[in-house]
Amino acid sequence: MVESMTKSAYLIELEENFGAHNYHPIPVVLERGEGVYVWDVEGKRYYDFLSAYSAVNQGHCHPRIINALTAQAQRLTLTSRAFYNALLGEYEKFITEYFGYDRVLPMNTGVEGGETALKLARRWAYDVKGVPENKAKIVFAEGNFWGRTLAAISSSNDPSSYKGFGPYMPGYELVPYNDLTALEKAISDPNTAAFMVEPIQGEAGVNVPAEGYLKGVRDLCTKYNVLFIADEVQTGLCRTGKLLACDHEEVKPDVLILGKALSGGVLPVSAVLASHEVMLTIHPGEHGSTYGGNPLACAVAMEALKVLKEEDMAGNAERMGILLREGLNQLAKETDCITLVRGKGLLNAIIIKEKNGKTAWDVCLTLAEHGLLAKPTHGDIIRFAPPLCINEEQLKACIQIIRDVILKF
Ligand SMILES: Cc1ncc(COP(=O)(O)O)c(C=O)c1O
Repeated sequence: MVESMTKSAYLIELEENFGAHNYHPIPVVLERGEGVYVWDVEGKRYYDFLSAYSAVNQGHCHPRIINALTAQAQRLTLTSRAFYNALLGEYEKFITEYFGYDRVLPMNTGVEGGETALKLARRWAYDVKGVPENKAKIVFAEGNFWGRTLAAISSSNDPSSYKGFGPYMPGYELVPYNDLTALEKAISDPNTAAFMVEPIQGEAGVNVPAEGYLKGVRDLCTKYNVLFIADEVQTGLCRTGKLLACDHEEVKPDVLILGKALSGGVLPVSAVLASHEVMLTIHPGEHGSTYGGNPLACAVAMEALKVLKEEDMAGNAERMGILLREGLNQLAKETDCITLVRGKGLLNAIIIKEKNGKTAWDVCLTLAEHGLLAKPTHGDIIRFAPPLCINEEQLKACIQIIRDVILKF
């Protein structure tokens, strides 16, 4: 390390020189987190307004989740599914009762959850619906994001996701988001296995569909005997002010994908929930993962789910979300820098109008200087998604920081 360099600059340079350049981070180097706060290696404190893309809903290093992690880590961490383990059955009973589904298939990352849901849908289409072999079609909404594997980017209409990585997965079709007429046309094809959709599109910039869209999706999927797969990897687990974003319209998807905050940001844990009919189409040897359902993940996920309910994180997300949008809407009236405020619960975004060559990226850099971390998406959108344990005083302090920065922009 060169003596004149800060510790942050040194650590950033290490990543620059030795890592793949597949991310473009805000230049802060974090080393500690607690609740809504994170600290960088120079000791500066920040409000975390991204929550690791909604993986840290329960707050950084939640003591109950960390206790569950460390207690289990000292007993047994991984057996593989070649053997039974003492926690998996208990976890499966717990999570299926928690969400009201018959069965669960445990995986690790969100994208694996998506893959699992799509494999289940294809198999269900052949074995139950009677779609001719290799003809199953899956429908997605434009603007979808469910990860970075080849199957996931094949459903993307964002060139920065798919360009240069072909050939792509066949058997997919895209329809515009929030468009029930287009959806009906696509899924009335008798070879359709499933429609996979985010109840609010997170990575697309917190795209909230019109009220009634999810109900419409449910009705159409039922009408055409098509599986409604809800990707709640980002919207689920209290983020939008309800346990699931689908709960806002009281609809139950046939297949539910969860990830991210299922572990409270402690380790990769995802899950796919479905009925007996769907889940039992897959037999031993046809799907799995070495780490899926490991005892450490089971212990952590059970505690992470209990914390969400016992600390009423849905209620807090709802209340704080209303306050946050009030503050942002007020600010939008005072400046023409913000052209739109949208969101639900604590999943929110603002759209920034570029001024004097300054963009949303510059706003985020200045927010970081003022002690608040957020990241732009798609150039001009900034997502505001703090941990769900944020209290009113902290939220008001954050609104003040955002005001100070935007009004000087
Ligand atoms: C809606 C949605 N689905 C799936 C994923 C993929 O999750 P992971 O990055 O854990 O694979 C993401 C990640 O941002 C997401 O937002």
